[in-house]
Amino acid sequence: MRRSTYQPINFSTYFAAFFKHPQMLDQVKIVTVIGSGQMGNGICHVFAQKGFKVHMMDINQTALDKALATIGKNMDRQVTKGALTEAEKATALSNILTYTDMAAAVSDADLVIEAATENVELKLKIFKQLDELAPEKTILASNTSSISITKIAAATKRPAKVIGMHFMNPVPVMKLVEIINGYATDAAVSTLIHDLSVFIGKVPSVVNDYPGFIANRILMPMINEAIISLHEGVGGVNEIDTIMKLGMAHPMGPLQLADFIGLDTCMNILNVMYTGFGNPKYAPCPLLVNMVQAGYLGIKSGEGFYKYTAGSKDLVVSDRFKK
Ligand SMILES: NC(=O)c1ccc[n+]([C@@H]2O[C@H](COP(=O)([O-])OP(=O)(O)OC[C@H]3O[C@@H](n4cnc5c(N)ncnc54)[C@H](O)[C@@H]3O)[C@@H](O)[C@H]2O)c1
Repeated sequence: MRRSTYQPINFSTYFAAFFKHPQMLDQVKIVTVIGSGQMGNGICHVFAQKGFKVHMMDINQTALDKALATIGKNMDRQVTKGALTEAEKATALSNILTYTDMAAAVSDADLVIEAATENVELKLKIFKQLDELAPEKTILASNTSSISITKIAAATKRPAKVIGMHFMNPVPVMKLVEIINGYATDAAVSTLIHDLSVFIGKVPSVVNDYPGFIANRILMPMINEAIISLHEGVGGVNEIDTIMKLGMAHPMGPLQLADFIGLDTCMNILNVMYTGFGNPKYAPCPLLVNMVQAGYLGIKSGEGFYKYTAGSKDLVVSDRFKK
């Protein structure tokens, strides 16, 4: 039976999942994460801290070294706050092995979580490779923000074992995991991923597979509308973000959030919904497209709607949007 789309927080579900912990560790011991960017390294961090053996894979060693340094820095912050001891940090880091060879990274994986760049062709290629290289029992999950899990699953010969596991950014901090059942996802796989998410300290919410799922189907039109409002001169960067922060009690404004997510990722998600629903209301704003084409991707490139300087937490509007 498929899980219903609406799942209120239910404490008995959590207790049930906690009681399953010993079996959980029998079923999932090794987790391979494909892609070690901002999401991939966060996913590795969380699983390694919970005692899983983690295989972190990326296309080059430079990306992996940068990811390990980020995980170390983020764990240092937890140590400073008293949330982790130095010994626990050392154990967690020792749980992570790095790979540039996909075959070696997945040869003994129980679960693979793909967190590579948000691009349909790339993900289809990766899942075809994973299906050929990973053992038959291995569950293949994608952290995609919007791409059809059903389509990704169809690139494999094991669609029942393919599922969406959509973590939020920053992964060690954000509680939600949006779990997406593809058309052919097995109910037992969905239950296992649900319980595993509880086990690693997250709150799962299970939904069905349509473009953007729930999180981005609702979030991205808001971000796009904020960019359209800026593009049309209805308001400036500060005005738009201040109105949404103070007026709606959002922790950050939509333009700052877009910079945080990555403007390329935002544009790609909007394009998936635009083509997936065939509805022009999801078309990315031309300003967003221009910024991505020019390489202004937000925090990761140093500038988007705001300008970022290493070591500074000040929020400085990009010169291009200064009045
Ligand atoms: N950024 C967010 O806020 C956010 C939130 C939730 C989900 N996501 C999703 O997570 C995924 C990753 O996003 P990100 O923000 O971490 O991107 P990112 O650009 O920070 O990292 C992507 C990583 O994938 C690697 N990669 C590319 N091709 C690869 C391949 N063939 N094999 C292995 N690694 C490969 C790149 O080298 C890079 O390190 C995307 O699907 C995105 O939609 C992003």
